[in-house]
Amino acid sequence: MTDFARTRALFDIPEGMIYLDGNSLGPLPVAAKERVAAMLADEWGKHLIKGWNAAGWMNQSRRIGDRVGKLIGAPEGTTIMGDTLSIKVYQALAAALDLNPGRQVVLSDSGNFPSDLYMAQGLIGSLGRGLELKVVEPEAVADAIDETVAVLMLTEVDYRTGRLHDMKALTAKAHAAGALTVWDLAHSAGALPVDLIGAGADFAVGCTYKYLNGGPGAPAFIYVAPKHLETARPALSGWLGHEAPFAFDLDYRAGAGIDRMRVGTPPVIALTVLDAALDAWEGVSMADVRATSIALCDLFIAEVEKRCPDLVLATTRDGERRGSQVSFRHPQGYAIMQALIARNVIGDFRAPDAIRFGFTPLYIGEKDVLGAAAILETIMKDRLWDRPEYHRKAAVT
Ligand SMILES: Cc1ncc(COP(=O)(O)O)c(C=O)c1O
Repeated sequence: MTDFARTRALFDIPEGMIYLDGNSLGPLPVAAKERVAAMLADEWGKHLIKGWNAAGWMNQSRRIGDRVGKLIGAPEGTTIMGDTLSIKVYQALAAALDLNPGRQVVLSDSGNFPSDLYMAQGLIGSLGRGLELKVVEPEAVADAIDETVAVLMLTEVDYRTGRLHDMKALTAKAHAAGALTVWDLAHSAGALPVDLIGAGADFAVGCTYKYLNGGPGAPAFIYVAPKHLETARPALSGWLGHEAPFAFDLDYRAGAGIDRMRVGTPPVIALTVLDAALDAWEGVSMADVRATSIALCDLFIAEVEKRCPDLVLATTRDGERRGSQVSFRHPQGYAIMQALIARNVIGDFRAPDAIRFGFTPLYIGEKDVLGAAAILETIMKDRLWDRPEYHRKAAVT
């Protein structure tokens, strides 16, 4: 059994704060502070440019990609770090479309994160070959897979409701219809067991600032299935994805395997933080994380429904069919969340009306769930949300 008291001590969470927003930005891993300080002083400070070789900076994207790969069922050499998730979505979709020419539809759903849809729209516009982005309701995805679909592009866990797609079944259906798949694991990696090889996914992407605790703006990852590694064409053909970056050839030749999905200079400091953050997963069983996350979400749903009858559950009650988050709807959701934050219970708000809470067993337990539910009850019963300052919209919600 995973020792969650041990993992909790690995994170720097301010005293008295109930942090239910690790699905948006994970907390600071204690080890990251020291690791980055050492990297700055001993590597950058002492080696300067020699650090690319001497401190292994150039290999970091691959090495850490393999560490992330272990958490998502990806074998070594299939996952690499770099850039932001939106960029990785673009790369994966471009490569998948290239591998499946002659078809015109990118199929996605209305539960996808808008940036994924925007990147698809931008890519389709640039390709200029009449591709269509078809967006259906999440429940209609399976039936919309047919032989017109080139690529099925989905986020496994809906960022608003937490609804979990069946990656294996949808991938199998897509393959049977001759389509390829791109899975966004932003709300899956570190939240629940993911088995990319078992699911047969063609491409997957994700961020590391949520459940993987890599810090604000932490680098993203991209996975390419072994069968596509040597044939996927990198649309963003930057020099570090070149077969021989330091030959400085004038013509691009894709690098071997997953290295071709590199673009430019890696964010070494950010990768150092992530490397330290990933240490927290040593000795952690993802099955334990999943079981505990389901229990914490179930408890929160039960407590809030008992105490706050005006809040409407927006997440399925079936633990197996959701990610690691719970949302409730209320017309005053924004103000309610501000009132919670003012009382040190941190979640977030997603327009138009959802208050959202992430449950992260590495550092959240039953006591936090009960504490948050009790504070939410007081806010609802005494209408504490109805103050002018809680209605004022901030730039980030
Ligand atoms: C599912 C999903 N996809 C894409 C993104 C965009 O990621 P980024 O801002 O790192 O490009 C997010 C951001 O939260 C997300 O949740």
